[in-house]
This record gives sequence, C-alpha cells and structure tokens, in this order.
Amino acid sequence: MKIISKVDLLKQAVREAREKQLSVGLVPTMGALHEGHKSLVERARRENDVVVVSVFLNPTQFNNADDLRTYPRTAEADAALLEACGVDIAFMPSVEDIYPEPDTRVFHLGPVAEVMEGAMRPGHFNGVCQIVSKLFMMVEPDRAYFGEKDFQQIAVIRAMIKQLGFNLEIVQCPCVREADGLAKSSRNVRLTPVVRRVAPAIYRTLKESLNFAADHTLQQTHDWVVATINAYPEMDVEYFSICDGTTLQPLENWEDSEYVVGCITVYCGDVREIDNITYKK
Ligand code: PAF
Repeated sequence: MKIISKVDLLKQAVREAREKQLSVGLVPTMGALHEGHKSLVERARRENDVVVVSVFLNPTQFNNADDLRTYPRTAEADAALLEACGVDIAFMPSVEDIYPEPDTRVFHLGPVAEVMEGAMRPGHFNGVCQIVSKLFMMVEPDRAYFGEKDFQQIAVIRAMIKQLGFNLEIVQCPCVREADGLAKSSRNVRLTPVVRRVAPAIYRTLKESLNFAADHTLQQTHDWVVATINAYPEMDVEYFSICDGTTLQPLENWEDSEYVVGCITVYCGDVREIDNITYKK
C-alpha cells in the first residue's frame, strides 16, 4: 500500500492506474476507522481494480470547534487497518495540502441540504461538499462508497454530483452496528460507560417503531419514538424526522410517499449520535 500525502502524487498514481485501464474506487473517510469503514473498504476492494481511501479530518465541515478538537485521531492504526484490507493507496494529506488557499465555494443544493443536519449544523454540508468535490476532482473515481448511517449526507452528495456533473457511481452501503444495535461511529469512543449502556435504545426504539407504525399515524409514531428515547435521562432527541427517503422533506401521512425513512439525532450525554430506519420502500 502506498501512503500518499501530496495531491500531485495522488493524481499521478491515479493517472498511472487509468493508463492501464484500471477501475478506481474511492472511500472518503475522516479516519478513526472502525468496522463500518472496513465494510466500505472491503466492498470497494471487491468492485474495483484500484482502491483509494482518503483519511482526512476535514475542518470545514465542523460547525463546532469542540467536536473537531475531540474527534479521535488514530492515523497509525488507520494505516494498519487499510493495509490489512488490501488498499492500494491511503491518501493522508494535511490541512495545508487540501486547502493551500481557503475554500470559498458555497454550494446551493436546495431543500435536501436545508433540513435536519443542514438546519442543525450550519455550514456542515457545505464543508462536506467542499472536501468530497475536491476528492472527486483529484481521484476521478468510477465509484465512491458511503455508509447509510449518514443518510442525508448521501442525498446531499448525490445532489452535488448532479449539479457539478460528476460522472461516477455512488455506492450506498448498509450501516454496520455493534452487537447491541448501536450504529458504529468514530464518536462512540467518547460515550461514558453509563451512556454507552443506554445508547442501544436508539436503534431498538426505531426498530420497535416499525410495529408501532402499523396501527398508528405518522405523528403518533413520531411522538412515541421521541418520548421513548427521551425517557432515558442520559439521552435527548435533537430531532426525529419521518420524511421522504429521496427529497428528505418531512411527511404528514404514511400515504404521502412510497419511500419513507425516519432520521434521528440524539444527544447521548454530550455525544451526538445519528441513526435512521426505513419504514417503506
Ligand atoms: O462521512 C464522513 O466521514 C465525512 O463526512 C466525509 C464524507 C469523509 C467527508 O469528510
């Protein structure tokens, strides 16, 4: 595995692969890699001749300085995991390598980027689009891999691709969970033992809500999920939106869409956890 930090060396390595007519898969990450990332990398490995994984803690997508400061950094372990997965290129640049000049681009991606995380974390998706579009321009991958835990992020990246005319396939990969159902996340290491014990109630409640939804209205289901999770003193639901799975706009009735998803964000102590469930597809 090549570890590359400079953009021109990355472009050269990818150019060499292209000259040999090899397909290229990209897995963008912010490091602190876990089983969820591993499943993306393994899928990319199966589906492409050359696999590039970027490990870059992108400052422009953090709207909260403390979140950036406390985000786990595990570069050595990340490189070892990627090597063991048979990755060809680990791209591990510095902030100066990626942003020699401040990135002043502003993305207007419409309603899909304005609800939920877009509303709660101003600037977050703009930062995601800045880094992901840069990576797409540098690597020009045939396929890029993203986890469904960040459900809205995938929808926003699809909108960006459409707007900028990138020609690549977005591969949407299932969320990987701990044995007790908690979605794997780099931030899970920050949960205190007490909070870690109750956090699986998020997904458990979402799953139970599938049954609840069978004989309750959308609003009743929404309220039941929020009340059930908020009954744990350690947890506080920031939002739960039952929305159209493509536009991400909130729905009023189950019949209003053929594709219905519930997206939730919960403060578990001071750690923000996100998750989602599909009601209808
Ligand atoms: O999902 C993430 O880890 C990040 O938002 C991404 C896509 C790697 C961009 O920094």
